Amino acid sequence: SCGPMVLDALIKIKNEVDSTLTFRRSCREGICGSCAMNIDGVNTLACTKAISEIKGDAKIYPLPHLPVIKDLVPDLTNFYAQYAAVKPWLQTRTPAPPDRERLQSKEDQEKIDRPSACILCACCSTSCPSYWWNSDRYLGPAALLAAYRWIIDTRDEATGERLDELEDPFRLYRCHTIMNCAQACPKDLNPAKAIAEIKKMIVERQH
Ligand code: SF4
Ligand code: FES
Repeated sequence: SCGPMVLDALIKIKNEVDSTLTFRRSCREGICGSCAMNIDGVNTLACTKAISEIKGDAKIYPLPHLPVIKDLVPDLTNFYAQYAAVKPWLQTRTPAPPDRERLQSKEDQEKIDRPSACILCACCSTSCPSYWWNSDRYLGPAALLAAYRWIIDTRDEATGERLDELEDPFRLYRCHTIMNCAQACPKDLNPAKAIAEIKKMIVERQH
């Protein structure tokens, strides 16, 4: 007697059984990233996870290894600070053309198309053992995917500084290619591959 997704069931429980049940949600269509939680042992979005996919009782927990504010609401303060730390905006020195936007080719846009689709749900970072044990110093897959998105943006002019910032035994190199991030991502993105690309760029610029 409710909609087909786990989020629908949570809303029903909140409306009809226990109004104190606390969780985040907004878009209910996999776009805002708010409803990320651990469902049936997997980090995913409650609004895109079908109840019918779950056999038996559904076990629902907040995203792993984060401080819990209440029920299914984790504290994402550090996660957002790490995102901000990679300066996820266009940095330029040369003035913009007076009569138009800064343009890039279709091919160059396609390079940033997928990484730009990240919804910052934190499913990846909170599925990563390296992040669990070192989240104070390791930036984690989500922030590193965002860093990569700006490093490869052909309009950005701070590539060198961005790589300098990441060349650090903890911030970047705590990634041990465990690959949980790519499996967890509900948007089918691959932060592990982006991290490997960043490592490669750092090695290549040394030669
Ligand atoms: Fe979520 Fe995927 Fe972005 Fe990680 S890379 S924050 S799992 S959308
Ligand atoms: Fe927005 Fe689930 S409610 S992603």
